[in-house]
Amino acid sequence: ISLDRIRNFSIVAHIDHGKSTLADRLIQSTGTVAERDMQAQLLDSMDIERERGITIKANTVRIDYVARDGQAYVLNLIDTPGHVDFAYEVSRSMRAVEGSLLVVDASQGVEAQTLANVYQALDAGHEIVPVLNKIDLPAADPERVKQNIEDVIGLDASDAIPISAKTGLGIPDVLEAIVHRLPPPKGDPNAPLKAMLVDSWYDAYLGVVVMIRIIDGVVRKGDRIKMMQTGAVYGIDKLAVLKPQMQDIPELGPGEIGVFTASIKQVRDTRVGDTITHEKKPCDQPLPGFKPSVPVVFCGLFPVDANDFEALRDAIEKLALNDASFTYEMETSAALGFGFRMGFLGLLHLEVVRDRLEREYDLDLITTAPSVVFKLHMKDGEVRDLHNPADMPDLTYVDHIEEPRIKATIMVPDDYLGDILKLCQDRRGIQLNLTYAGNRAMVEYDLPLAEVVFDFYDRLKSVTKGYASFDYQISEYREDNLVKMSILVNEEPVDALSMMVHRDRAEARGRAMVEKLKDLIPRHMFKIPIQAAIGGRVIARETLSAMRKDVTAKCYGGDATRKKKLLEKQKAGKKKMRQFGKVEIPQEAFIAALKMD
Ligand code: GTP
Repeated sequence: ISLDRIRNFSIVAHIDHGKSTLADRLIQSTGTVAERDMQAQLLDSMDIERERGITIKANTVRIDYVARDGQAYVLNLIDTPGHVDFAYEVSRSMRAVEGSLLVVDASQGVEAQTLANVYQALDAGHEIVPVLNKIDLPAADPERVKQNIEDVIGLDASDAIPISAKTGLGIPDVLEAIVHRLPPPKGDPNAPLKAMLVDSWYDAYLGVVVMIRIIDGVVRKGDRIKMMQTGAVYGIDKLAVLKPQMQDIPELGPGEIGVFTASIKQVRDTRVGDTITHEKKPCDQPLPGFKPSVPVVFCGLFPVDANDFEALRDAIEKLALNDASFTYEMETSAALGFGFRMGFLGLLHLEVVRDRLEREYDLDLITTAPSVVFKLHMKDGEVRDLHNPADMPDLTYVDHIEEPRIKATIMVPDDYLGDILKLCQDRRGIQLNLTYAGNRAMVEYDLPLAEVVFDFYDRLKSVTKGYASFDYQISEYREDNLVKMSILVNEEPVDALSMMVHRDRAEARGRAMVEKLKDLIPRHMFKIPIQAAIGGRVIARETLSAMRKDVTAKCYGGDATRKKKLLEKQKAGKKKMRQFGKVEIPQEAFIAALKMD
């Protein structure tokens, strides 16, 4: 196909503004998928994505469209992940296309993720077509939202297309705008092959499937290709386009987007952003700006039942086949036994992986407090990454400690602004900027990632009743006065509860933790001291008094079945606890103790 008949685009939107619904409509109205095969939210293929209503993996679809001018076009839609954790995948997908539809809910307006994603689209040099969705809603106010787009993003919205992805209203105008307002791709079919690795995933039947965008040259089935970053060479077994089911195709030329398989063993052997070329006649320069995605949030995962360790290992290895973005290594904890230290792109990523392990592999897991990666500058000049507070060396060897900082953008109705400012202040935030658009405020904060990874997002949602939106990017590593705080239960340090904290906040944090733990740990037959300490110095202490009565005592001995039930309940409750020396700590304690109110 000639380049001027191709349009490649993505859809950028805040979560819930209707990206997937619009994608479904575009697919449906062009007859790409037969009506009877149409399934709502076609592009969010994984169950968990559908359940949570979020898009995790980038998907794509090739749409054949005959425009009003009578010409046939090929439209390639790349569906980008909507969440902040997957920013790198978003930025790669954006570089594979020339334009974006900017979808804004006409009853809401621009939100933090709209902003973050639209900036990425602008960075990638996109032409952008604003689309106002959900105009069927009584609360829709397209004129106000147009103004909002101009004020907040600085984008001309006078030609924004009003649509309802739900009813189908305005969909033909969107298709025409894709053809007439977005530019065609550029590329040279006679140059050596240069293609971008946009995404890859594991398919149970086909093995690893790699999605590519051809920049220059032509790739054919059977070609020997080389991945420039990894140096690996493969023969292409299958070449296809996604409609969205795979449809074999003999070749792909410049501007085209498709997938191939090549007996690649695991997703880990492919790197998003890598350049693919021919083994024999390579291109001279790889595509610029390749960077592997690095995990920023780490936590320990341990089976509740120590006998499940092998099952956990198995499950993680299976999951790793399909998701190259988390890391894992074995970890042993004095308190929790054998488990894994895992690294994630962000908090949501952590939650998704943990959920999948628990649900798809039927495991009960203990998750230790998420921690960021600290950089330890040792006195001998060495710089070490600290992934686990339990591994913190003696302070006498450490010169200083750096932590990752983020630049956060929060958009919120101004009624809640005070609560947001307080929340950010409490988390050691530094305000960078505050602007208004209508009655919504946009604030930017410089915050330590460590203060955000735990429950910041939950807090943000609860103090604003869900009206705030939040997005962030990692800005830099910066030195601060950080120390390791240990928690001792019955004089024994519980390594899984140790954490890095700012020295000025250690006492308050330690106090809150021991108070929480006192409520979370059930009484035992003896007295249990619960302490927070820095080095050898105890900074907070609570004592859990000894239990006096049997749990069944209050049954007055009368009702035997009730007594039995109670004992069984107690037994079941026990399964979720771990033994620490002589003390049993329930699983919830590990997470709950770290939540700050
Ligand atoms: P993520 O996949 O989480 O990024 O969300 P999304 O932006 O893809 O949103 P999605 O398409 O899942 O739509 C979110 C909700 O809005 C769903 O309940 C849709 O049914 C609804 N919705 C989408 N478009 C319209 C519309 O035009 N009108 C109305 N009334 N509802 C819509």
